[in-house]
Amino acid sequence: MRSFLVINGPNLNLLGTREPAIYGSKGLSDIEGELREWSSAKGVEVSFIQSNHEGVIVDEIQGARGRYDAIVINPGALTHYSIAMRDALIAVEVPFIEVHLSNVYAREEFRHKSVISDVAVGKIVGLGAIGYRLALEALLERVG
Ligand code: DQA
Repeated sequence: MRSFLVINGPNLNLLGTREPAIYGSKGLSDIEGELREWSSAKGVEVSFIQSNHEGVIVDEIQGARGRYDAIVINPGALTHYSIAMRDALIAVEVPFIEVHLSNVYAREEFRHKSVISDVAVGKIVGLGAIGYRLALEALLERVG
């Protein structure tokens, strides 16, 4: 059975109450619940982790080698500066798609830079919560 890991970084545990005009009104557990429904309909496994700590994200990425077929990651603000996360994603050789709920390109300039986009399979920005499912669909198609 195909197995995917969905990683959410700092402050994404606050979804639902955090700047809903930008990030939407769904909580992270609502989003994860929808993805669980998707995974059982598709007959695949999806695991979820969220952490506010860069080191925990790095540990989870390291642990993904040989265990997951692909990763969907919304690294939150780590997107813009975490070389440690980038190095881990390259090291484990697990394909991944970068997801952002908001259109980072329509926001502050510091959000325009991502340290992981060039090593990602692809990237989904600005579509809200559906972005996670679209990323999983694309990865499932890719890994077969
Ligand atoms: C985000 C965009 C980031 O710039 C921000 O720091 C986040 C969320 C998004 O999903 O739109 O925490 O990754």
